[in-house]
Amino acid sequence: MKTSKFISSKWMVLGLVLVLGTIAPLAEARAFFVFGDSLVDSGNNNYLATTARADAPPYGIDYPTRRATGRFSNGLNIPDIISEQIGQSEPPLPYLSPELTGQRLLVGANFASAGIGVLNDTGIQFLNIIRMFRQLDYFEEYQHRVSALIGAQETRRLVNRALVLITVGGNDFVNNYYLVPFSARSRQFALPDYVKYVISEYKKLLKRLYKLGARRVLVTGTGPLGCVPAELAMHGTNGGCSAELQRAAALYNPQLVQMLKQLNREIGKTVFIAVNTQQSHMDFVSNPQAYGFTTSKVACCGQGPYNGLGLCTGVSNLCPNRDLYAFWDPFHPSEKANRILVQQIMTGSTNYMTPMNLSTIMALD
Ligand SMILES: *[C@@H]1O[C@H](CO)[C@@H](O)[C@H](O)[C@H]1NC(C)=O
Ligand SMILES: *[C@@H]1O[C@H](CO)[C@@H](O)[C@H](O)[C@H]1NC(C)=O
Repeated sequence: MKTSKFISSKWMVLGLVLVLGTIAPLAEARAFFVFGDSLVDSGNNNYLATTARADAPPYGIDYPTRRATGRFSNGLNIPDIISEQIGQSEPPLPYLSPELTGQRLLVGANFASAGIGVLNDTGIQFLNIIRMFRQLDYFEEYQHRVSALIGAQETRRLVNRALVLITVGGNDFVNNYYLVPFSARSRQFALPDYVKYVISEYKKLLKRLYKLGARRVLVTGTGPLGCVPAELAMHGTNGGCSAELQRAAALYNPQLVQMLKQLNREIGKTVFIAVNTQQSHMDFVSNPQAYGFTTSKVACCGQGPYNGLGLCTGVSNLCPNRDLYAFWDPFHPSEKANRILVQQIMTGSTNYMTPMNLSTIMALD
């Protein structure tokens, strides 16, 4: 009995070594690229003359270094947690970081910039930010830099095998169409036509991303835009979500999924994977207690109703326990909420991930 137990545990250890031995180099080799807005910006805007920044306390209060890094979170953001989950030893650095050189380039890069949208005129009030077309220009430039290190063929392989995350679109509503009453875009387009226009421009960006070598791309929809503390404070109706922004999200998200399906059909492969952020976000917005939150309406850091007005700064209200809040600031989830969102990305059913989740992707390639 004792011997057989000993033998089986020895075999288990050996089995574990074999599994790790085969997986570890693959996990190391997979690069990670990130594009989009503040939900995924890890500090590019620190290097720019813009008002869209998160490089001062209390941002980063729960980050491992306890410092503000430019992430719009109390701690880790969504790319950090995905990077952790796919076995990277460090998350990709912001593309503008001077530390992004040599071997660190092979981990990937984060091109995201707070304030941007699909459209160039989104976020103009933030002045100097990296718009989507520019993020793709930088991706091209990145590939030239990596080619100089490891050659063009290996670079192509690295990019083809990489995981890509793109999170953009929310600002095209919040910081464009609905930014001010009678905005230029809202005078130009009825909402359904605007949604179609944004989706068609987004499709062009994704086609270019594919041309640049991306082969596995997680594309997130918008969250429940009308239910974030900022919108509850500014446009909410009787403590409820902003009906107009909810209407925008309800029109936009299904059309995004359809567009991605269409793109995959045109390409003949599952390159683009839709992440139903609306659903996973809505889960804890409608039932915060089930996820360990005391509130999904009030931001941890901010001022005014729902702590939803203005910016999160050193003089704002600040909650003592960030894990009890779904929202860290008026627009952005807390690290705890980010972890729940990434959990759904990893293992969620087809209600959350279309056509498959990230653990399935990891097993496939
Ligand atoms: C944004 O600007 C770039 C550079 O001027 C241009 O190539 C691109 O077509 C523009 N995109 C949109 C959606 O207008
Ligand atoms: C998602 O991941 C889990 C494993 O964690 C798996 O059982 C499930 O079938 C996957 N769902 C889809 C739709 O890929």
